[in-house]
Amino acid sequence: TFVVELARAKKEVVVGSDQSILDSVRAAGIDAMSSCEEGTCGTCETRVLSGIPEHRDVVLSDADRASNCYMMICVSRSQGERLVLDL
Ligand code: FES
Repeated sequence: TFVVELARAKKEVVVGSDQSILDSVRAAGIDAMSSCEEGTCGTCETRVLSGIPEHRDVVLSDADRASNCYMMICVSRSQGERLVLDL
């Protein structure tokens, strides 16, 4: 379980171990784009403003992954207790 802060929406959501960031964001009433929801298409790519994602997608290059600037919120999670996203 970790907390995701949605910087533009000025909201915080808690992401439980049985849900995705995408699920939690939508439950908070934010209309996030997605397609595959399996980490393969890149549609849900979201900018990371703070925190370290735990990347579980197969879209990002190794360099993008290492930069921690973007993440796929349908499958990827957080390494720490908190992420701040540009949503
Ligand atoms: Fe396809 Fe997230 S919806 S990578």
